[in-house]
Amino acid sequence: MKGISVGLLGLGTVGSGVVRIIDNHQDTLMHQVGCPIMVKKVLVQDLSKVRDIKIDSSLLTTSAAEIISDPEIDVVIEVMGGVESTKGYVLEAIRNKKHIVTANKDLMALYGSELLTAASENGCDLFYEASVAGGIPILRGLVDGLASDRITKLMGIVNGTTNFILTKMDQEGLAYEKVLKMAQDLGFAEANPAADVEGLDAARKMAILSTLGFSMKIDLEDVKVQGITGITEEDLHYAKQLGYKMKLLGTAQHDGEKVEVSVQPTLLPETHPLASVHNEYNAVYVYGEAVGETMFYGPGAGSLPTATAIVSDLVGVVKNMRLGVNGRTAITPQFGKNLKGPEE
Ligand code: NAP
Ligand code: HSE
Repeated sequence: MKGISVGLLGLGTVGSGVVRIIDNHQDTLMHQVGCPIMVKKVLVQDLSKVRDIKIDSSLLTTSAAEIISDPEIDVVIEVMGGVESTKGYVLEAIRNKKHIVTANKDLMALYGSELLTAASENGCDLFYEASVAGGIPILRGLVDGLASDRITKLMGIVNGTTNFILTKMDQEGLAYEKVLKMAQDLGFAEANPAADVEGLDAARKMAILSTLGFSMKIDLEDVKVQGITGITEEDLHYAKQLGYKMKLLGTAQHDGEKVEVSVQPTLLPETHPLASVHNEYNAVYVYGEAVGETMFYGPGAGSLPTATAIVSDLVGVVKNMRLGVNGRTAITPQFGKNLKGPEE
């Protein structure tokens, strides 16, 4: 098989991690897919920006068309964020028969169904493991690992920034604004951190998780949301005195008829396993009728953990290319309905 050419949309926190993993793990990737994987072009906003990643400047472009219309590019990795222009680029790339890997929960929570349908119709994979809980393989865990079970409840910490803020305020007594700035500097926060602290980012992830877990379309507006902006250092202090920890918790419950999904600050007893999930780490409990209770835990944000999920998705795409089953495989996390099946 010839080498695989990748086009990247974005070279920020996550995009830099993707370039690092593709560069540094070539031997692992070669072992997995049997051919070299190389980054051919990278879309950025600002060509003159000083970057903390070594990259040949001739790879950088400000023209998305140079990537999505390049016939030599097999896979487009979308790590620029945003929704409207990003959706246009992704759809155009799919029409040009490019496989897509994205970390964009805003895009997937709003347009996942439409994009997955377009991908399937064009014989393309569209994978988005990195969109929920960073480095934790929770989507594949749900869709593949627990495929035989009926999921009844999902509960967890799915936003790294707010967990980082609550941890540092609680354990080190730091002020909210100072810790938010730290989370931004570490690359955990969204471009507009209001999405993190007001609970929207977690709501998008809970919409994706519950759509996949319950095999029904859960829209963002179905999720009740309350963020952490009203939480004070005093609240955390009194919670601690009473033996509790404050966490921004996402919960989705399916009683067989209706589904309820919410994100809200919640007091957990210090003995609860989720109470000891600290900093940018995430954890998701999945309850299945047959399996009982499972817990997925790991880094929920940050450059290399998130990039690991993306490059692993890329490996999945290339393996499907070898088998000639792109856009048709059972392992594609789908939005609650079977798209094109292998028998069609
Ligand atoms: P980021 O650091 O802000 O990087 C965004 C990159 O995209 C930058 O390289 C920027 O170019 C480029 N870009 C943005 N808008 C553009 C436009 N209109 N045209 C061309 N280039 C554009 O963002 P990030 O933290 O890597 O996040 C990227 C995506 O991953 C988002 O969807 C985010 O929600 C998701 N995500 C992030 C994390 C995390 O821990 N950060 C984890 C999971 C998922 P310049 O460099 O020139 O400014
Ligand atoms: N801003 C997000 C978070 C990035 O803090 O969880 C990971 O999706």
